[in-house]
Amino acid sequence: MDSPSRQWELGAKSWNGIRSLLRAVALAGLAATALWAWPWSRDLVEQIITRPQQFEMLPPPGSIPRGAESPRAREQAAASLRNPLMPTPENLAKGKVLYDTYCLVCHGAAGRGDGPVAGGALQPADLTMARIQAQPDGLLYDTIRHGFGLMPAYYERLAPEERWRVVLYVRSLGKGQ
Ligand code: HEC
Repeated sequence: MDSPSRQWELGAKSWNGIRSLLRAVALAGLAATALWAWPWSRDLVEQIITRPQQFEMLPPPGSIPRGAESPRAREQAAASLRNPLMPTPENLAKGKVLYDTYCLVCHGAAGRGDGPVAGGALQPADLTMARIQAQPDGLLYDTIRHGFGLMPAYYERLAPEERWRVVLYVRSLGKGQ
């Protein structure tokens, strides 16, 4: 028969055992965590990232380049766009240079639709005729920006301000200047 003090001693001994067991488990846990995270120095490299050239990242539908005009329908352009430039001699002179560079080849020097490459299937409009001259500035601008029928678009070659100068010049052609 054990005395009460012996029982207490036994109890203390088993507590020591449990404590060292707990310590061992805790140490094993720490070691496992350390191994799991190895190598720590690469943690920032191994994160979920998109690497350059990994895949093609298309812009969301409807995106436009920074500084670009928002796309708008032809009718909308005709109704809403106003020429910000005045037909000053300087703007008309610059408009003429642009017209002679980009439009003359088809529409002719006086805008009659008789440029050097006109003919056959390519029938450029006579820009002096009433139907064209009656168009609002915004519509002429839109024709230059987006092209029209067989006519190419000039959005890449003519900046918005240049398009408005050409519009001014086309107007002056209509007045027979
Ligand atoms: C490659 C030849 C070509 C060039 C260059 C060209 N155009 Fe045209 N343009 C045409 C043709 C062809 C039409 C007639 C299209 C149709 O009716 O389908 C036309 C039509 C037009 C119209 C009338 C659109 C309408 O509402 O009927 C305008 C305005 C016009 N062009 C302006 C210009 C201006 C300004 C430039 C220079 C920035 C230019 N074009 C350059 C071929 C050209």
